[in-house]
Amino acid sequence: MSTTARRLLVTSALPYANGPIHLGHLVEYIQTDIWVRFQKSRGHECHYVCADDAHGTAIMLKAEQNGVTPEEQIATVKADHQRDFADFLITFDNYHSTHSPENREFSETIYLRNREGGHIATRPVRQLFDPEKSLFLADRFIKGDCPKCNAKDQYGDSCEVCGATYAPTELKNPYSTISGATPVEKESLHYFFKLPDFEAMLKEWTRAGGLQTEVANKLAEWFESGLNDWDISRDAPYFGFEIPDAPGKYFYVWLDAPIGYMASFKNLCGKQGLNFDDYWAPGAESKTEVYHFIGKDIVYFHALFWPAMLHGANFRKPSGVFAHGFLTVNGHKMSKSRGTFIKGRTYLDHLQNPEYLRYYFASKLSGSVEDIDLNLEDFTLKVNSDLVGKVVNIASRCAGFINKQFDSTLSAQCVEEELLAEFIASGDGIAEHYEARDFGRAIREIMALADKANQYIDEKKPWALAKDPANREEVQAVCSVGLNLYRQLIVYLAPILPGIAESSRAFLDLASLNWESRYNLMLGHRINAFTPLMTRVEKDKVQAMVDASKENLTATVAAPAKAEAKPAAEIEALAPTITIDDFVKVDLRVAKIVNAEHIPEAAKLLKLTLDLGNEQRTVFAGIKSAYKPEDLIGRLTVMVANLAPRKMKFVMSEGMVLAAGPGGGDIFLLTPDDGATPGMKVK
Ligand code: MSP
Ligand code: ZN
Repeated sequence: MSTTARRLLVTSALPYANGPIHLGHLVEYIQTDIWVRFQKSRGHECHYVCADDAHGTAIMLKAEQNGVTPEEQIATVKADHQRDFADFLITFDNYHSTHSPENREFSETIYLRNREGGHIATRPVRQLFDPEKSLFLADRFIKGDCPKCNAKDQYGDSCEVCGATYAPTELKNPYSTISGATPVEKESLHYFFKLPDFEAMLKEWTRAGGLQTEVANKLAEWFESGLNDWDISRDAPYFGFEIPDAPGKYFYVWLDAPIGYMASFKNLCGKQGLNFDDYWAPGAESKTEVYHFIGKDIVYFHALFWPAMLHGANFRKPSGVFAHGFLTVNGHKMSKSRGTFIKGRTYLDHLQNPEYLRYYFASKLSGSVEDIDLNLEDFTLKVNSDLVGKVVNIASRCAGFINKQFDSTLSAQCVEEELLAEFIASGDGIAEHYEARDFGRAIREIMALADKANQYIDEKKPWALAKDPANREEVQAVCSVGLNLYRQLIVYLAPILPGIAESSRAFLDLASLNWESRYNLMLGHRINAFTPLMTRVEKDKVQAMVDASKENLTATVAAPAKAEAKPAAEIEALAPTITIDDFVKVDLRVAKIVNAEHIPEAAKLLKLTLDLGNEQRTVFAGIKSAYKPEDLIGRLTVMVANLAPRKMKFVMSEGMVLAAGPGGGDIFLLTPDDGATPGMKVK
């Protein structure tokens, strides 16, 4: 173990105060919590802080919708979030709010210092305005007809039908999704943070080694396409902090959100007498480490704006930003109609034990930005076979004999020193994987050790030996080795399974199961009575959890899921009636998807090669958010075969495939039953 203790400050992204914690969020909080527990186990000083992200239009509107003040809204959600986190055994050293006095103070300081440094500019911005609500409308609150293809109900930034991107002012027949009113254009003065001032510094910081390669490459692309000034002001009414010397102007939520990390830490310093400057003063980099765990969707804010703001305000910059991928469930984006948009609370109501999920996520995490999939069948199998079948089994096989036949006392000598030494030595490699956030690899090595421990017990067969009193000493020796091996495994698994680790510590009657403690063998040691440590995941409970998560889409009215995201599903009105003559003009054919691939330039489109029996067509379909190309190849679908080729943003599309659903993860490609063959006419 390293001789010098490190001092670390670790954060997870601050969840928005307008909705519950779901399993997607939990990827991040579980990942961070494991890493923090690992650091603490190694004897380092590590502070883990977080907070609710309480500001912005979405939260303001949500409060209005619920008939409460924004302050009441954020207090309720914060309490729910904290309860969810605690029940998933995520132990922050401090959990604060961005709507706090500390955050106001730091936001003002950081803004004013940047202003003094000449990094703030102002200029008028023309924007769409909701005259009924007296509110400037962000792109996601405006819909209308696509200026290119006339498709109805498209959002203010891009068309889901033809892929065109445009300014919201270009939409035809625009309307406010908040009030339905026709927006008007209005000008107002905005405040900007001059990000380009920091280009050289950011390039250097990017190369300093605190970023994953994928993230550093992404930044290189952004540098290439040029950095722009960042609009950091929003006009009243807005729930946030008013900008100093700018009445009626508020800091945009993303300006004060990352500052919330500092605010939460400052609040902790007050409670525990820590020295704030040790972590944030310029030059603190040489004494302490600061790491931010985030999702891949918010890299821009954390790897560009945030270090630039800090630099401009004379604070230290983070030592590292660690991005993770997004959660999919059963291979698809989480979806309300499939019942895979699962809230943390729904999981707990049905499965109770948070450690199943902690273990499964850990087994899938690798320290890269790749998405991770929760396959519910694999989840059940893996947890039952690894944790119940292998790990806990070692303790339950050995403890009974020791408790009943040896007055709960282990042998005074270890008869398998080599095996134990091997388990202890493995701790160094496992620690490296933890440090690199490659928890999946750590788990594979730990499970290989668990297999070895079980093999040892299988070979010695204490249950058979116990039949002959002459073997009494050997039974005790074998079970003592088994329990010592079990203890090593629990030391290694403790960051992931803190609950099992604590019950094991109590059962083994040990003071600590920290990383260093693995060197101490339990010899002549008295343990406590064994109680079952974990029960199996039950398949029908997993199904019940999915059923309980299924929402009737027609009953839910659009509400912004996330302050920066678009509203989810909305109900579409029926189109005007057509005659049978109109209908027969449409030539619908069964087509086989022989190839499907991503086109990097398009956010929503997949390129499909469709086989019609006697010819192949290239069709671009806006279904990327719901399907992985590899899952489509070989499937049948229905296409409009006589649609005139259409020029889409990048390419020509020779037809159209039929799909249903509101969009996002909820798009369902129509698939004929087996037996249909390519080219068949659909009647
Ligand atoms: N409030 C901002 C973060 C501000 S940090 C200064 C935000 N909030 S969020 O609630 O939308 O997301 C919180 C974290 O959860 C983010 O890091 C986000 O990437 C992560 N995730 C949200 N949904 C996720 C998945 N489906 N899968 C994995 N992580 C996801 O963004
Ligand atoms: Zn369009």
